[in-house]
Amino acid sequence: MRQLERHHRNALSDMAEILYPEDAAEPILSRPVRGALTEWLTEIWAAKELEEVNLKPRSRALFYGPPGTGKTTLAHHLAARLGLPLVVARADQLVASYLGETAANIARLFEAVRAGGQPVVLFLDEFDSLGSKRGSTASAAGADRNHSINTILQRLEAHDGTVIAATNLADDIDQAIWRRFEIQIEIALPGPGERKRILERYLAPFIFEAETLSSLAEALHGASPALIRQWCEGIKRNLIIGPKAGWNMERDAVIERQLASVAPHPDLQRPRLWERGARDPAIRNLAWPPQRGKAGG
Ligand SMILES: Nc1ncnc2c1ncn2[C@@H]1O[C@H](COP(=O)(O)OP(=O)(O)OP(=O)(O)O)[C@@H](O)[C@H]1O
Ligand SMILES: [Mg+2]
Repeated sequence: MRQLERHHRNALSDMAEILYPEDAAEPILSRPVRGALTEWLTEIWAAKELEEVNLKPRSRALFYGPPGTGKTTLAHHLAARLGLPLVVARADQLVASYLGETAANIARLFEAVRAGGQPVVLFLDEFDSLGSKRGSTASAAGADRNHSINTILQRLEAHDGTVIAATNLADDIDQAIWRRFEIQIEIALPGPGERKRILERYLAPFIFEAETLSSLAEALHGASPALIRQWCEGIKRNLIIGPKAGWNMERDAVIERQLASVAPHPDLQRPRLWERGARDPAIRNLAWPPQRGKAGG
């Protein structure tokens, strides 16, 4: 993938980070979510045919759901499928304290994306900090917030290109802004089937029996993909470094070390594995040490 032209990169550099297609990975998602996304991509690819009947593909999507479920990963993956760079702007960094400055920052961002002249996918992360419900106009701060919201509304409508916004706080999003998105997709915590696939992906090249993966997936009910990934990678790090470093490599010792060093956020559900530790049936039946598959895995 060709890099963005230098002037384009420079104009965006203090407001956004640019992610390129070659670094994207496909998140593991539930079937309905995958279906909705495939439909959207197909529509974008069919832009020419749609134009013949005066239709445009939908260009604005909102992803909402708990932290660490793959919203950013998904936006990057979708941009990659379209062969475009993803321009990641953090909405919380556009919010400023001087009156009018937030609206000016929003305008400057959209302007920089447009002026670059190269198609990109614009990603507005932490979107709740910009799009949260309007305040009372009685205070200067409330009026300023409404001004920012109106700017976002106008810019979203006028923007010629794909825009994806993401938030953990869907309840906070202003309703008028919500409606401006033609697609609203909930990226929920993974179900048992997805957890199993996530375990398999992040434990590779170590291989486990399907039954072992299923019972681990059960013990990880309530965990986000990000937490599962962290846990798996910790185990793998232990398996590689531990023997050389002289650590206790017995199964229960390795598992307990991992559970002590990685934990879900206190506001989130604590999966069973963290409650029971090495006494969990999923661990009791875990063949140890895990076997390593062929390279590439
Ligand atoms: N559905 C998924 N499948 C595979 N890996 C995932 C998935 N979701 C998250 N991950 C992994 O977890 C990490 C965090 O994911 P990501 O940043 O995309 O989550 P997010 O939903 O954007 O989180 P936040 O709400 O905190 O911004 C990444 O390293 C990613 O590889
Ligand atoms: Mg994110």
